[in-house]
Amino acid sequence: MRVLITGSNGLLGQKLVKTFSSNHRTSGIDLQTEPFITTPNFSYQNINITEKGKLEELFASFKPDAVINAGAYTDVDGCENNRKKAWEVNVEGVKNLSRLCRENKAKLVQLSTDYIFDGKAGPYSEEDTPNPKGYYGVTKLESEKVILDSKIDFLIVRTNVLYGKSLGETHDFVLWLIQKLKNRQEVKIVTDQYSNPTLADNLAEAIKEAAEKNISGVLNIAGGEKVLSRYEFALKIAEKFNLDQSLIKKVLTSELNLPAPRPLKGGLKIDKAKKLLETELLDVDKGLEYIR
Ligand SMILES: NC(=O)c1ccc[n+]([C@@H]2O[C@H](COP(=O)([O-])OP(=O)(O)OC[C@H]3O[C@@H](n4cnc5c(N)ncnc54)[C@H](OP(=O)(O)O)[C@@H]3O)[C@@H](O)[C@H]2O)c1
Repeated sequence: MRVLITGSNGLLGQKLVKTFSSNHRTSGIDLQTEPFITTPNFSYQNINITEKGKLEELFASFKPDAVINAGAYTDVDGCENNRKKAWEVNVEGVKNLSRLCRENKAKLVQLSTDYIFDGKAGPYSEEDTPNPKGYYGVTKLESEKVILDSKIDFLIVRTNVLYGKSLGETHDFVLWLIQKLKNRQEVKIVTDQYSNPTLADNLAEAIKEAAEKNISGVLNIAGGEKVLSRYEFALKIAEKFNLDQSLIKKVLTSELNLPAPRPLKGGLKIDKAKKLLETELLDVDKGLEYIR
């Protein structure tokens, strides 16, 4: 396969590049002038997914069989405050990719999120009805609709709370927490947001298996565990890395006064993925062990 990965310098993008380039011809695009990782079988260009002309040229020259859209404006509060940019990247960018996938008969694998749900009754299955609370979720749900309406071959992969080691600037919760606790700084962690955190390396492997098996439709791929609160996750991280759990203080989401509302009872059911995929979806203990 010839695989185009957007957002290839992001947390998931880097893992996708690593895993796909091991046996597929792989090309990546992102906003930076240079790739964060270099590896054989991989070429990189600085292209924004909102730039139609440059995307057209890339499709014409690289001729992808599959496009994995891991590029997105992922800052949840940023999306709330900068709605124009959020719409342009997360919706218009996906329109560009789906049009080009249709014209070039390529499959589109789109990354989505449990933030398309309102968080009243998670974890959610593929069949549950979305109802996003914040603008990030609104744009991600709209991107799903764009793809569903586009009459292309697609796979929408919904995931939640990614973590893992990556190069470049990282927004990763695990590495952020480890740094804080190593510096003996107190942190306030929410007790009322639930998820099944997902090791990015593991997600990339599962996406590769799904792409190679040509699975289509909507599929949840997330950590293999019952959901846990962000506070419980933080305690597990501290335990695994021998750091002081007493520095972790409880807080409620409402006390943080964040710009964007969050789904509280979030998380994703992974029964369908377990049936379709051989890749083991790692629980938090195994995932943290992997990055230790
Ligand atoms: N992280 C999570 O917990 C999580 C949970 C559920 C779903 N997801 C979804 O999974 C996907 C990957 O997430 P991630 O955590 O790997 O995000 P990430 O680390 O923020 O990576 C996204 C990458 O896309 C780039 N990008 C932003 N706008 C772009 C544009 N217009 N054109 C091309 N590239 C652009 C970003 O560049 P800059 O860094 O310069 O902006 C970044 O390198 C996203 O679709 C996200 O919505 C993530």
